[in-house]
Amino acid sequence: MLTSWCKRFHVAFLALAAALVFPAGAQTTIAATPPMGWNSWNHFAGRVTDADVRAAADALVSSGMRDAGYIYVNIDDTWEGQRDANGVIQPNSKFPDMKALADYLHSKGLKLGIYSSPGPKTCAGYEGSYGHEEQDAKTYASWGIDYLKYDLCSFRDIMQQEAPNDPQKQFEIQKTAYEKMHKALEATGRPIIFSLCQYGWNDVWKWGPEVGGNLWRTTDDISDHYDRMTQIGFMQAGLAKYAGPGHWNDPDMLEVGNGGMTFDEYKTHMTLWSILAAPLLAGNDLSKMTPETLELLTNREVIAIDQDRLGKEGDRVWAEGPEEIWSKPLTGGAKAVGLFNRADTPRAISLKLSMVGFGNNAKLRDLWAHSDVEAKDGLYSVVVPSHGAVMLKVSK
Ligand code: GLA
Repeated sequence: MLTSWCKRFHVAFLALAAALVFPAGAQTTIAATPPMGWNSWNHFAGRVTDADVRAAADALVSSGMRDAGYIYVNIDDTWEGQRDANGVIQPNSKFPDMKALADYLHSKGLKLGIYSSPGPKTCAGYEGSYGHEEQDAKTYASWGIDYLKYDLCSFRDIMQQEAPNDPQKQFEIQKTAYEKMHKALEATGRPIIFSLCQYGWNDVWKWGPEVGGNLWRTTDDISDHYDRMTQIGFMQAGLAKYAGPGHWNDPDMLEVGNGGMTFDEYKTHMTLWSILAAPLLAGNDLSKMTPETLELLTNREVIAIDQDRLGKEGDRVWAEGPEEIWSKPLTGGAKAVGLFNRADTPRAISLKLSMVGFGNNAKLRDLWAHSDVEAKDGLYSVVVPSHGAVMLKVSK
């Protein structure tokens, strides 16, 4: 039992710790770690229905993905119907009752995300939020929405109309539109993650947090091909300093399990996205997952790298031809290291521990193999399969 002195000390210590973590006035951040969940677009695109979303939610629970951290279930484009006489947005016939859907998800410990555009039309030509921002934010909050992806799409026409051939003015107009929705979401009093999607234009990572973004797409769309996935992933070099708790770079959603890449290529996808502290939004049909797909998506040691509380994004430390080494700082002074082979044949890649700031007696763990490994004289060499990756955790 604690003595009363000890108890008082304990309480004072907790208060001090809390004050350091949450300084006066600061709110507990939403998206303190990169959001994890599922999004309908990469697999279902314009065909997604209420039943698909419920099936995804059920699969998140039964597969163990929810318990591994995949909480957000995000409906992408094509849920939107018409506005009623008062201008209130209605879902289309694929989504009979959004509030009931949100209740269903919440009852399973999941959260519901939705999609809109600052423009009059979404990218797939459905109703956007232009001129209805406050109203839409209120509607989302009343349904119980927890996440909004806000996709520029037709707002580019508005920018062009309002400031013809004036890129600087158009940029200001764009920023104002994102900020407007952020304020509208904030005014609802419901914590709603705000995901900016404008394909990385105008160095969005430099101003995303200013307009309330919790994450922002840094590139145009991903596709289920190794070339496109790696083009996007390796292009993230240099962006690490813009990410942190509450505001993340988003190199787009996962394609793992969609069938266009090999097991090793998807392993590269997960390794790179985790080192990048990227949002992990699965984009496959969760109700028809192979054990290999599930294994890639739910490796807890890999997820722990992505979700590390320090909230630092990783970056490239070395590259020579098709061989790359990336590293991400972790809490407690450890580092995650990804060894990538972009060549068409297997390659032996060597990590000098000094490259990532460690000496000869560092501890190494292979996170995909779930086993400790050993460096020799400060060097760890491993054969990496073609288009594959090895992921290590290095610590003192
Ligand atoms: C854009 C986005 C995609 C997806 C589609 C939907 O292309 O970048 O992620 O949301 O629109 O229409």
